[in-house]
Amino acid sequence: MLGNAPFGFELRRRSPPMYLQHLHLHNFRNYRDQALTFTAPKTIILGNNAQGKSNLLEAIELLATLKSHRSSRDRDLIHHSTDSSQINATIAQRYSTVELGCTLRHPGRRTLSRNHEPLKRQLDALGTLNAVQFSSLDLDLVRGTPDDRRRWLDNLVVQLEPVYAHILQEYTHVLRQRNALLRRHRGEAIPVAPPQQLALWDAQLAAHGSRVTRRRARVLQRLAPLAQAWHSEISGQPESLTLTYSPNVPWQEDDPHQVQQAFLERIQQRQAVEVQRGTTVVGPHRDEIELCINDIPARTYASQGQQRTLVLAIKLAELHLIEAVTGEPPLLLLDDVLAELDLQRQNHLLAAIQDRFQTVITTTHLAGFDAAWQQSAQQLTVESGKIASPAHAPPL
Ligand SMILES: Nc1ncnc2c1ncn2[C@@H]1O[C@H](COP(=O)(O)OP(=O)(O)OP(=O)(O)O)[C@@H](O)[C@H]1O
Ligand SMILES: [Mg+2]
Repeated sequence: MLGNAPFGFELRRRSPPMYLQHLHLHNFRNYRDQALTFTAPKTIILGNNAQGKSNLLEAIELLATLKSHRSSRDRDLIHHSTDSSQINATIAQRYSTVELGCTLRHPGRRTLSRNHEPLKRQLDALGTLNAVQFSSLDLDLVRGTPDDRRRWLDNLVVQLEPVYAHILQEYTHVLRQRNALLRRHRGEAIPVAPPQQLALWDAQLAAHGSRVTRRRARVLQRLAPLAQAWHSEISGQPESLTLTYSPNVPWQEDDPHQVQQAFLERIQQRQAVEVQRGTTVVGPHRDEIELCINDIPARTYASQGQQRTLVLAIKLAELHLIEAVTGEPPLLLLDDVLAELDLQRQNHLLAAIQDRFQTVITTTHLAGFDAAWQQSAQQLTVESGKIASPAHAPPL
């Protein structure tokens, strides 16, 4: 085990209120059995390609969000040679320390535990550890599909309000049922037989869909000004970033009854299309989030550097919003992106996170990193799924 020494008083005092102290990976991706202790607010994981840098961050992301943005199948996360994997973490929170455990199985279902007690519902693990991840894949926020942006926003809302994970699940369930019904009666004359059954699903879609859209709107409303402020700070230009929510069902007032009413009206209007296509075309599964710089869609106009700046501004906004809402600063996971930023942007990022947000940074090389904070960071190397403390680094 690395860094066996208990946390010194110095470190405890300097450490952010919530931080990840220990992580133990067992048969997770290319890690067979790896324990590690985080001893500083910033940890740099240095390694060549394909050694396990992203895998490590993925394990943390999985504990925080119960999802990996690289794979939706647990079998991909389990070491090839075996059929189960464990991730265990010790998380210091403001007033307590929590042990979070996750076991993945193939075949079989994953299970989660908190303080060694199995959790009845997996979703109950949400909110224990919060994390914001920034990797090159996040550039899909600008370049990718509306689905990429919805997934990003949903992940953020879940971290702010874990109950949203249930809301989203319920909505998805209703959507599947309604789609199945529409598919069975595709192309039939309106009213679709049996009309009462469809009306029932319409009401459900309106009820659950309105919960989803109202929460998404509220979060974006809080995130947008933060992202805008970070963006002008980092770019140093009078450019203005706007994040606009374009719900598939437009609504005015944040009132459950009125929003549901808007859903029902929209369903009425689109009934012919839904019957013809045999699928649900009304609802938040068709929402869009528009990212514009100076009112021009960033997707079509922004240069690579501008796109990176934009995503960085959004990530910083997420970090601060999660802290403001939950009262605990989330972890920042930077997967191979810091060295890609120019020095000015690196410095903005580092000034923004200081020691307030525990940060894990992966990189293939240290060249181009600011020397002062490189020294203050815990440095680890990874090779073929084994983490070590390099000889030249200060002792852990
Ligand atoms: N389920 C698995 N079992 C065993 N090994 C795996 C599994 N999944 C991935 N790997 C291995 O993990 C390695 C990739 O690890 P990772 O993505 O963390 O690399 P990285 O260090 O981030 O590299 P890069 O610098 O290219 O991003 C590959 O060698 C891959 O074969
Ligand atoms: Mg990687």
